[in-house]
Amino acid sequence: MHTTTRYTVDPARLDGVEDEPLFQAVAAEAADQGIPAFAIGGYVRDRLIGRPCKDIDFVVEGDGMAFAQAVARRLKAEPVHVFKNFGTAMFTLRDPQGEVQVEFVGARKESYSRNSRKPEVEPGSIKDDQERRDFTINALAISMNVGSLGALVDPFGGILDLDRGLIRTPLDPDITFSDDPLRMLRAVRFANQLGFVIDPPTFEAIKRNAHRLEIISAERIHTELNKIIACAKPSIGFNLLRDSGLLQEFFPEFVALSGAEEKYGIGHKDNFHHTLQVLDNVCEVSDDLWLRWGAVLHDIAKPLTKRFHPGHGWTFHGHEDKGARMVPALFRRMKLPLDEKMKFVQKLVALHLRPIALTKDEVTDSAVRRLLFDAGDDIDALMILCRADITSKNEKKKDRYLRNYELVMQKLKDVEEKDRVRNFQPPITGQDIMDAFGIGPSRPIGDIKTVIKDAILDGRIQNDRAQAWQLMVEEGARLGLSLRAGLEHPPTVG
Ligand code: CTP
Repeated sequence: MHTTTRYTVDPARLDGVEDEPLFQAVAAEAADQGIPAFAIGGYVRDRLIGRPCKDIDFVVEGDGMAFAQAVARRLKAEPVHVFKNFGTAMFTLRDPQGEVQVEFVGARKESYSRNSRKPEVEPGSIKDDQERRDFTINALAISMNVGSLGALVDPFGGILDLDRGLIRTPLDPDITFSDDPLRMLRAVRFANQLGFVIDPPTFEAIKRNAHRLEIISAERIHTELNKIIACAKPSIGFNLLRDSGLLQEFFPEFVALSGAEEKYGIGHKDNFHHTLQVLDNVCEVSDDLWLRWGAVLHDIAKPLTKRFHPGHGWTFHGHEDKGARMVPALFRRMKLPLDEKMKFVQKLVALHLRPIALTKDEVTDSAVRRLLFDAGDDIDALMILCRADITSKNEKKKDRYLRNYELVMQKLKDVEEKDRVRNFQPPITGQDIMDAFGIGPSRPIGDIKTVIKDAILDGRIQNDRAQAWQLMVEEGARLGLSLRAGLEHPPTVG
């Protein structure tokens, strides 16, 4: 999963465009209306490098909305969804290979301002439209016009950049980025996804303009960030984000992980690099975006909990709890979901030290049971994070951790098979306790339940109704409660 595919460009991949039904319909409509039309943007880029793409955008030198309706009629692909504000229209095409979203827009002279605050667009030519796009590799177009059907229209050397792996703006980058500052994040995202390099003048412009991200909504920012986190090796994107100054604009807590302070010759590891290594490690084995977020945030509170103790060295006590408490505020600010996904990330951050801490001493069944109880169904994700967190450069230490990790894994398996505490359901309910002692809802019920839970997790009794009942009876007596007659043993259910 780790390797970034090196894409190779092959213009021959455009061969046969004239035989494909969608392009035939667009070409026929363009000819009938006498309007130049072009396939453009991401689809052309992806087709040239042989990357699958399910969105096809067209630009017409005229009314894109009316054109879309006419093409959809030809293909019997209605309904067409029209977005008047943006001057675009789209429909879905279903073919044996799946669904394709097809979108049309009129060529525009002014900024490609789909998302900017004041979309001021003037009709323009294909060239006007292309030069207002973000990168040369995204400004490539394929002609749909008589005499040149299927030919590449590439006024900015996009195919060359695609071939040499370069992210470069078609215009002066200061103009391109001021049209839509989100493009700076897109540059990093494409560099990461495609394994490309950002052209130095473009990168310098990102550094100059990074502060302009302030006008971009948190949703648009996190959409790009999530795409970076979803890459095969997101450390590449994060390093670019930090070096360009973009990360500081929307995620200063992550930048604060940077640096390895030293006192009296004692240093600590650079937690920025460590976190990225953990993230890359997780990405080798899991595509789960939220587990990846767990890696991003696992040490986020280290800068806030860092202390130097003379004679002892650096500590980050409580960073896992503080970090878990920071998660909701971070998610809220970034407008990430505040639902069970956030809770999952929070749990990973809170528990990330637990499996390895277990290995410091003898791994007891009861400690393993407690871990299983606290992690529940998220135990597998937690163990992936923990395994990824072993990044020590000291080979001896690393080997020891890894051996211990395997030991914990084995113990987890054994204990779960034996005791089934992964999704622990107490064998005695509050209702059982109320019935047994003839009491209403009150404090002793919680106390007795806790005693039973602890006894099971500590291995003093088994996860079994009869044994738990026995303990309840004893504990009730200790609390001065009197057992109702005939309830010395659990009543048979049913
Ligand atoms: N575009 C742009 N500036 C933006 C967003 C998009 O110039 N801020 C242009 C690019 O030409 C891009 C096209 O609009 O190729 C389509 O945008 P989008 O669908 O967001 O991106 P894709 O390039 O298709 O890539 P992906 O699907 O991976 O996001």
